[in-house]
This record gives sequence, structure tokens and C-alpha cells, in this order.
Amino acid sequence: GDVFTFDPGFTSTAACESDITYIDGDKGELLYRGYPIDQLAENSHHLEVCFLLLYGELPTAAQMADFEARVTKHTMVHEQMHYFFRGFRRDSHPMATMVGVVGAMSAFYHDSTDVNDPWQREVAAIRLIAKLPTIAAMAFKYSVGQPFQYPRNNLDYASNFLHMCFAVPCEEYVVNPILSKALDRIMMLHADHEQNASTSTVRLAGSSGANPFACIAAGIACLWGPAHGGANQACLEMLREIGTVDRIPEYIARAKDKNSGFRLMGFGHRVYKNFDPRAKVMKESADEVLGLLGIENNPTLQVAKELERIALEDEFFVSRKLYPNVDFYSGIILDAMGFPTSMFTPIFALSRTVGWIAQWKEMIADPTQKIGRPRQLYIGAPRRDYQDVRHR
Ligand code: CMC
Repeated sequence: GDVFTFDPGFTSTAACESDITYIDGDKGELLYRGYPIDQLAENSHHLEVCFLLLYGELPTAAQMADFEARVTKHTMVHEQMHYFFRGFRRDSHPMATMVGVVGAMSAFYHDSTDVNDPWQREVAAIRLIAKLPTIAAMAFKYSVGQPFQYPRNNLDYASNFLHMCFAVPCEEYVVNPILSKALDRIMMLHADHEQNASTSTVRLAGSSGANPFACIAAGIACLWGPAHGGANQACLEMLREIGTVDRIPEYIARAKDKNSGFRLMGFGHRVYKNFDPRAKVMKESADEVLGLLGIENNPTLQVAKELERIALEDEFFVSRKLYPNVDFYSGIILDAMGFPTSMFTPIFALSRTVGWIAQWKEMIADPTQKIGRPRQLYIGAPRRDYQDVRHR
């Protein structure tokens, strides 16, 4: 028979060629279209990064204005979608709601589901980037029993999201620029990460010709797992559970014990065998934001810093090249902004949407791509004859 390469977890299989994102895991380097992530985090903003990922170049001022106008035109969701939300239990996890609602987008926007039409693909990309913050904010509002807030197109991307999450009809809500800048930076840091599990899911779903809304819903479902995007929620919950620095050694010991089933959340990465460059920016950002908000004595941040210090001196973590990843510090910032932990992964999802859609567009336009169809090494029963129930 055929001979296959056994590669569980795809640790040594390149499934595509891509010119979007580059990671050097040993150096701890991440480039979007060639630009280092720390330079983008310092100087750019999320919508500009969206343009860069989608079209390959930084926009001119005119291109940026045009892109922003196209995105803001699509920030509202179909009014009928409000009823779709109301079908969910109030206590649904916002990620559960998002998987369903984003999946339903293909029922609401079927004029942009023809994957063979480049114009429809473009409209779908813009719709997804524009509407994901609205959908995530609605999932949040629904879970706390507050009325949905319509998007405000005079606000920038991150400020509009904060507005949709935290404004209420009975009072004036003014977006704090410190928070909106920090959130925008979190969005940029999460915007793409080459062929990670959720992006590969989007590509695999898309390889069958499935429409982009269905593909992104599949990506959101994959992202939810605690080994992937769900780690930011799990990490902050872990830091809170640890609570005080004196309890850190106990958790380090548990993480080192393979039989405990416990891992240090926000630590380790399949590709980075050095500091995750996103974690570096995130740590500085956490210090800056908490300082500006006057809550630098935040006990969770103290625990995180001490845990990082102890782990980076421990032979178990050093020998396995386990460093803090992007999720280690992001939750501390999101918590300081007032988000409950259940919103951390939805924020990751809306930030990663541009990466998913850029990768999906690249795949659709790539003539070398065919339907994704891994093979297997069969280890089950050999051929045998059916037995009547009386003889079993
Ligand atoms: N705590 C304790 N031990 C760990 C951890 C951890 N967080 N991560 C890896 N290890 C150990 C693991 O037990 C194994 O040890 P040994 O070689 O002795 O068996 C070794 O390190 C390699 O681990 P692996 O499971 O083979 O590595 P992987 O590449 O399959 O997994 C990972 C990568 C990110 C899933 C894993 O490091 C992990 O579970 N981390 C915690 C969850 C997390 O923070 N995920 C977010 C990743 S970054 C953002 C994102 O992708 O969404």
C-alpha cells in the first residue's frame, strides 16, 4: 500500500506557501509582511495592520481613509441578528454565542458567500473585520443582561469596541484613550500568527470551498480550546487562584509533575523556543497601563511577574525552553479594563479575524492548493465478517 509520513500535530509538515507572516521561533522574531511586531505595536494601529495583512503593503493616507470608510460602512449587523442572539441562554459563554452567530452570518450575508467571485470575497473580508467587534460586544451585553449598543463610526476601531461593551443608554460614556490604545495594541499583537491551529482550521474548512463565514466560525471554535486562544482566560484564572506570591512554588511543583495534568497557562509555545516577542510588548504594556490607571500594585501582576521570574530560573522550564507567551500578560490588561475573563478569548477571536481572512484569501487565490485531506496509519481490526447478534 501507500507509505505515509507519520506527523501527529503537524510538527514538521508545511501545508502551504504563504507570504503573510514569518516566525523565527529560536530568535523569538515575528514579522507581519516583513515588519517586526514590536515596530508595528509601537507605531501602527489595528486597522492599518489589517490593511497590511490583507493587501501586503502599508497603506498611503488615501488608501487608509478608503479602507476605514469601507470597514465602518459595515459595522452594524443585520437587525434580524438581534433575535438570533436572543435564542441563547443568558449564561452562555460568549465564545459559544460567537461560534453560532458568526456561523449564521452566511445566512444573513449570502450575497458574499460565492468563493469564486473575487469581489464577493473582498466584501466578506470587510464584513468580517467590521462586524466581529459588534458581534463580540453583543455576546457580552447579552451575557450581562444589558441592551445591545450600536457601533459608533466616529470612533476608532478599539474605542468603538469599548463603547459597544461598556456604554449604557442611561448615561454618557467617554472612552478612556489609555484603554483604547492598550486594547488596539492587544489587537495588533493577535492579528496573525501563520499556520496555528485555528488558522489551519480555517484553511482546511476553506479548502472544500466552504464560504468564508462558515470557515471563520470553524476557526473560532478551534481557538476556544485552552491550549490555544482559551489560554488567556485560563491564565488569568490561574493567577487569581494562586493569589499571593508565597503560593507560587506549589503551582510550579504541580506544573512539573506530569501526573498532575496541570500546566502553567500562558507558558510554552509550539514554535517559540525563546521569548514570545508579543509577550515582551504585552508585559511592558501591562506595566504602562496599570501605572497610568494608578493600579500598579495589582496583586495579579505581582504574582505574574514573580511566577515568570521563578519559572525562568527553574531547570524544568529552562531545559524545555518554556517562556511566557502572548497570553501571559494580556489578561491582566483586559481585566484592568473591566472585561470579565469570559471575554478574553472573544477579544482574541475578533483580533485574529483579519489573519484568518487574509490566510483564507491567500489560499483561495493559490492554484497549488487543493482540498486538505490528511491520511492515517490504520491500527484497527483487520477485515472480518458480520456476526448476527445471537452469536456475539
Ligand atoms: N507547563 C508545564 N509544562 C509544559 C508546558 C506548560 N505550560 N508547556 C509545555 N510543557 C512541557 C511538556 O510537558 C513537555 O514536556 P516533556 O518534553 O518532558 O514531555 C514539553 O514541555 C513540550 O511540550 P509539548 O506539549 O510537547 O509542546 P507543544 O508544542 O505540543 O505544546 C502548547 C505547546 C502551547 C500547547 C503548550 O506549551 C501548552 O499547553 N501551554 C499552556 C497553554 C498556553 O499557554 N497556550 C497558549 C499558546 S500561545 C497563544 C495561542 O496559541 O493561542
